[in-house]
Amino acid sequence: MKRRRPGPIRRIALSTGGGDAPGLNAVIRAVVKSALHRGWECVGIRDGFNGLLSPGDYPEGGLLRMTRETVHGITHLGGTILGTTNRGNPFRFPVPVPGGGVEEKDRSGDLVAAFRREKIDALVAVGGDGSLSIAHALAGKGVRVVGVPKTIDNDLDRTVITFGFDTAVSFATECLDRLHTTAESHSRILVVEVMGRYAGWIALHAGISGGADAILIPEIPFDLRRVADRLAHRFTAGHGFAIVVVAEGAAPAGGGRTVAAREAGRAERLGGVGARVAEGLHEIMGRETRSVVLGHLLRGGSPTTFDRLLALRFGAAAVRALAEGHADVMVALDPPRVRLVPLAEVSGRMKTVPLDGDTLLTAREMGISFGD
Ligand code: F6P
Repeated sequence: MKRRRPGPIRRIALSTGGGDAPGLNAVIRAVVKSALHRGWECVGIRDGFNGLLSPGDYPEGGLLRMTRETVHGITHLGGTILGTTNRGNPFRFPVPVPGGGVEEKDRSGDLVAAFRREKIDALVAVGGDGSLSIAHALAGKGVRVVGVPKTIDNDLDRTVITFGFDTAVSFATECLDRLHTTAESHSRILVVEVMGRYAGWIALHAGISGGADAILIPEIPFDLRRVADRLAHRFTAGHGFAIVVVAEGAAPAGGGRTVAAREAGRAERLGGVGARVAEGLHEIMGRETRSVVLGHLLRGGSPTTFDRLLALRFGAAAVRALAEGHADVMVALDPPRVRLVPLAEVSGRMKTVPLDGDTLLTAREMGISFGD
């Protein structure tokens, strides 16, 4: 594990980047309290790194001085009190060009200079794969940084789980319970699209827990006729309705993912596969079908106890790691411990659902179709 010569830390910065996830405020609280406990100052950077890169956009300042009062009573709140963005990569920063449009510029040098100017000795960067890759690249430029893994998608490698996932799955499961009653009352097929990007974790965990008849995930290309066969068996057996959970990144065998939008300076936006699946099943089966997109509802609300505690542990562990002289590492859950892994081992890697994992096998053994 990489350790720096332990230079004194007096002031640390904290940033939250990428999509919000329940538990971010709990991390913020733990980082701030642990830093103050050590006699360090702590500042929060607004909207990823934008508070340092475009301070003029913030009349009240792009840096927030974090005190015990600032983080009072926030553990249970969704979102992030610092704000976030998924358009703020300092290595590919979107800059407006005269005449309209934007072009990407490397502003990482400006960011490192801003850290120096603001006398920031170390950084805690909370984020998903994009933010942690940025953190690793900043470490390469000499920034003393510790990453904290966040995402409802649970697609980060080297940690058993990310905070936000449990809350998203719990909510999705509750939605499936609610949708069951409508599906049953109206004898319909209900197709429920959930987030998760290129991984099927949310769909799989919520689908099994919420009693889905079919679960379509990016890891297994699907054939709608096979899904229809499975549902037909169910109808023949006397069940008048069915629930299908579709991950936003799922795609038919031989076909592409459903992309909602492509925008400069950020990853493609997925969405719409649920409606396509519903339409396809209606065509094949001739049954009344509806689709629902849970979308950003999965990112909101109060974190579950599991996510709160994990987020608090991660925040405290990140500050502990800095105090012990670690840098260019990420805190990770390796039950029962929180440990450190090099950011180099996380950056650019994705954790997808293993096809031989027992969770997926459980679903198959319970007769849930994956459309394969
Ligand atoms: O990574 C979290 C996530 O919610 C994904 O599940 C989803 O694909 C993406 O972010 C949506 O991003 P946005 O909020 O920018 O539309």
